[in-house]
Amino acid sequence: MTNDSERGPEVYGSWANAWDQGTRAGASEVPSPVLASHNMSSTKRLPSKGAIRSCFEESTCQKWRDDKGEPIEAHGAGLMKDPVGGRWYWYGESRKTQNLTSHGVNCYSSDSLAGPWRREGSVAFASGKEIQSGSADPYPQVLRQNMIRLKGAHPRGPYVVERPKVLFNAKTKKYVMWFHLDSHDYKYRRVGVATADLPQGPFTFVHAIQPDGIPSLDMSLWVDVDGQAYFVRSCDNLYTGISRLTDDYLDSTGLLSKGPKMEGYALFRLPNGTLYMLSSHQTGWNPNPLMLYRANGPDLSDPQWQDLGNPTRHVESFNTQPTYVVPYTTKKNETYFMYMADNWIHAGPGRLIDASYVWLPIKFDGAHVFIDKLYSWDMEDPWKNAWNHDERPVFG
Ligand code: GAL
Repeated sequence: MTNDSERGPEVYGSWANAWDQGTRAGASEVPSPVLASHNMSSTKRLPSKGAIRSCFEESTCQKWRDDKGEPIEAHGAGLMKDPVGGRWYWYGESRKTQNLTSHGVNCYSSDSLAGPWRREGSVAFASGKEIQSGSADPYPQVLRQNMIRLKGAHPRGPYVVERPKVLFNAKTKKYVMWFHLDSHDYKYRRVGVATADLPQGPFTFVHAIQPDGIPSLDMSLWVDVDGQAYFVRSCDNLYTGISRLTDDYLDSTGLLSKGPKMEGYALFRLPNGTLYMLSSHQTGWNPNPLMLYRANGPDLSDPQWQDLGNPTRHVESFNTQPTYVVPYTTKKNETYFMYMADNWIHAGPGRLIDASYVWLPIKFDGAHVFIDKLYSWDMEDPWKNAWNHDERPVFG
């Protein structure tokens, strides 16, 4: 029998079940008045002046808001610094409602990772009927359900759209988005690819693929310092697969290497050349111990992943699952890496519908790596409130 802690999203069987599991039975899509007033009591927009207030638990969570004061809805995020205009773009899943019809990709932009974040996209892409019936998200999206067109005998929408990641392709001058595209029963297991001329879209759906012929679930994209782009994904929720992207970033070029079973991937390389992969176990919306891997091999065709344990030293990783790691360079020219995560079900009483975010600095301390639970920290001075690790156990 499969151990519960080793089961992935397929355990839910369908999006409807996944939603039920992510909410308390009978939870409404409309935020409770308690939550609404709790959120409105804060006029703080996040991140304000670089202060990051992560959302660890319901009792202390403040909604992260955009420059208009609206909640930021961009889950399973991917961040991109636009090499053309220099602006930051934050792509993510739209509000985690019960009905897949409104699910798409939201995009926010900002001059700095510290915000304020402005919502991008256009409402024009929802059909009049959808808007009238209320089934469309009233907010702008850069990729909507009605843009996804699958050819042939493929499942009909609405589709599961998760973990969007965007890269700029210097050769074609296109912004290329990859996302986990699935049927409501999580059996389609594809990647959706879409392209745009501008980072804020609109994106045009290109195709649905099963990269290298392997069923694909949780996924991410990553560009190495030499400019080579990689695709990392959970292959049928059995093992991790890494592939290179084609020159135009529209496909992959064959399985390069296999890794252990995991999901929620984020790859990053330190300036000293060491390559890491942060990930989670497969427990659906439930948080579990993070896994940090270091590559000991010559390259990603033979990474020789070494498990360094859980850098949070917390069994539920402060209620988080990884989605991305991004480098940040302070005004004093110190570069560090920031852990970006989803708090799927512990951010508010509505659980999944109140999903929120945790961003934390990753501390390299000698041979050890730590992610501390900092309720509030300054992106310009990330270690001010970090713990002193001198006397701490190496792994907890
Ligand atoms: C998680 C996965 C999420 C989403 C969820 C649905 O395991 O990381 O991206 O797919 O399951 O059940």
